[in-house]
Amino acid sequence: MANTYQDEIRARFGFDLDLGGDVPENAWLKQVLMRRTQRRYNDQPISDSLVRLLLAAAFSASSKSDYQQGSVIWLKDRARRDRLAALFPDMPWIGAAPVFLVFLGDARRLARLGELRGLEPGYGALERFFNATVDAALALQTCVLAAETVGLGTCPISVLRNRIGEVADILELPDTVFPVAGLCLGYPAQQGLISMRLPPEASVHVDRYDDSQLGEAVDGYDRRRDARHSLKDRQRDPARFGTAEFYGWSEDKARQAMNAEGSGFATWLKAHGFTLGEPDDASR
Ligand SMILES: Cc1cc2nc3c(=O)[nH]c(=O)nc-3n(C[C@H](O)[C@H](O)[C@H](O)COP(=O)(O)O)c2cc1C
Repeated sequence: MANTYQDEIRARFGFDLDLGGDVPENAWLKQVLMRRTQRRYNDQPISDSLVRLLLAAAFSASSKSDYQQGSVIWLKDRARRDRLAALFPDMPWIGAAPVFLVFLGDARRLARLGELRGLEPGYGALERFFNATVDAALALQTCVLAAETVGLGTCPISVLRNRIGEVADILELPDTVFPVAGLCLGYPAQQGLISMRLPPEASVHVDRYDDSQLGEAVDGYDRRRDARHSLKDRQRDPARFGTAEFYGWSEDKARQAMNAEGSGFATWLKAHGFTLGEPDDASR
């Protein structure tokens, strides 16, 4: 029983992980361990009723304080989708996926409840923004897992926030409603690759935070990933960073993180109803 998940764990982490005892065998858990993002879809349509089922599952996700601050836009109108997709020509799956959803953090609805009940609504505090983001992210990932359970492939799309002004115009977003990520849905056109994850030594802490072994853990991870799927011929911006003799995941992510991605987002949020301050700010 202890080795029931050996193949899946090896696929995900690149080594055998001792789970430390017997665990129940579960087909869905195996599927979660083997999950992968899919960016290419075949022509098989997805019925509206299946989308509605997936959205029902999505909004079954847990929700901070039961505030239910996630919303979704199901982008069905082709012209509107084309306008959105045209903003991101290097991600053609945004326009090509049979179904495209946008998961929204929605701090507006809670404030509107206050108005409906005759209470002074608090709007823009960081807490509201954060809770709405978490709710939307949980709904998004629940939708991903539900979709994968019925054989669909998915790809979240946070690049939407890089053109936040135009995206908000296309989706007609009111103040305090913002995209957390889009989501492509479609039946996969290929098997796809499993993206290896960091080992538990890097991401699982027991009793207290301790990253003293991070360097070793990441070095080993870089090598395992490289053995399966090398990035050496896809080095990011060598003109700026040089050409690395060994180019692993950590070098790639460190370089990627040097870009000021999302730099206009905070400014946009502040222009659209969020103060991003302490909760007291919202009651003014
Ligand atoms: C919040 C979020 C936003 C993402 N945004 C994009 C995106 O804009 N474009 C894209 O192609 N993939 C996007 N992805 C997919 C990630 O690149 C992918 O999850 C990651 O490489 C790990 O691969 P895996 O999901 O196959 O394990 C996003 C994933 C998440 C969770």
